[in-house]
Amino acid sequence: MMSALKEEKRGSFGSKIGVVLASAGSAIGLGNIWRFPYMTGQNGGAAFILVYLGCVFLLGLPVMLSEFTIGRRAHSNTMRAYLKLAPGTKWYLLGGMGVLAGFLILGYYSVVCGWTLEYLFQSAAGNMGGKEPEVFSAMFATFTASPLRPLIWMVVFLLLTHFIVVRGIKKGIEKSSMIMMPMLFLIMFVLIGRTLTLSGAHEGLTYLFNPDFSKINSSVVLSALGQAFFSLSLGMGCLCTYASYFPDNTDMVKTGVQVTVLDTAVAILAGVIIFPAVFTYGINPSSGPELVFVTLPNVFQNMVGGYIWAILFYILLALAALTSTISMHEVVTAFLQEEKKISRVKAARVVTIGCIIIGTFCSLSFGLLGHVKVFGLDLFNLTDYVASKVMLPLGGMFISIFTGWFLDKNTLWEELSNHSTLRFHLFKVYVFIIRYVAPIVIGCIFLKEIGII
Ligand code: PHE
Repeated sequence: MMSALKEEKRGSFGSKIGVVLASAGSAIGLGNIWRFPYMTGQNGGAAFILVYLGCVFLLGLPVMLSEFTIGRRAHSNTMRAYLKLAPGTKWYLLGGMGVLAGFLILGYYSVVCGWTLEYLFQSAAGNMGGKEPEVFSAMFATFTASPLRPLIWMVVFLLLTHFIVVRGIKKGIEKSSMIMMPMLFLIMFVLIGRTLTLSGAHEGLTYLFNPDFSKINSSVVLSALGQAFFSLSLGMGCLCTYASYFPDNTDMVKTGVQVTVLDTAVAILAGVIIFPAVFTYGINPSSGPELVFVTLPNVFQNMVGGYIWAILFYILLALAALTSTISMHEVVTAFLQEEKKISRVKAARVVTIGCIIIGTFCSLSFGLLGHVKVFGLDLFNLTDYVASKVMLPLGGMFISIFTGWFLDKNTLWEELSNHSTLRFHLFKVYVFIIRYVAPIVIGCIFLKEIGII
């Protein structure tokens, strides 16, 4: 009774489909549609995808189940969760690192979210037709380097996120995901239908699905691992926070598999949309972060009704991004609200303002602050590197160690089988992975990248 009351006060998801769509909404975002294609391009194509799939199913899914377990068991924000499950230990620092990572990622992620709004605006204004590919490259460079415009869009995006988060779990997060996610799927399929009939479709698909194993090296593996964690929203307590709002009867293993499959499918389908276009219009597949903003306009201007499709695409890119920014925002908002004992609105306000400050620095690194380099990286790439290549994998490793070695097996079993009312045939395999495989593999990849082995 007590816990039911408490839960009500904290808010919880209202339906099974709401749980899946909200979690998938967190996972599916710019990571899939913007970051995955350019990471694939920069890391040699199909070979990267194979390594990526390995990372997702072998390491990502088990870590996701661990985050679910921690979150639903503790029914609290990601830092409090460790204080509850491991009182008197330092494990809460792991939750603290997650909150910090969420904050940093949201800061630079919102910059790109802002770009999606600019592209939506330009498409609607009819400025995206009848241009040569080089013109789109130049437009992108000029826009991202300008001091004010990207900042305004970024703030708009953060405010949208803010207003959904303050509405709470059911009315804000769940409801928005239930509307936005189905729309995203629908539009993706329509776009795939178009790009597969382009002349470069064969070349694009070969690049995506025909691996050249000589391209695999430690940096490719670390990128794939970082991308897997980023795309699945793992390693920073995001799904742990969401799981704290899962009802007691949620089948977390099934939910985890569904979210992982949906997320991976959307990433690969985004590649299927983008690479045929890349090869058709002679764009360099390893051109980096601007891939989506420079390549896709070429596709739209050649499509029948391209004007409308461009608008729809950028609306949906923005919506996918929005369901993800909401989840990052929620991690920090829940933390502040519960730990600082302030209202949800106040907590959300602090997060939004903080992110505007971080985002401003990241955004300006494309122009005014372009000369500021730390370890050879500009501020945007530095934040991306620290958060997604350092904090997320490390977070994932420690989450595995925590659930594998610190939480007792019964707790894991109780949560993942809903007190033995569900079957989980691969439970032993799962435990083996989070005890041995995940910590060792993530640890080695990480040490190799920072040059220790
Ligand atoms: N998974 C999101 C995406 O793919 C990004 C994200 C990372 C969201 C970490 C929450 C936490 O775009």
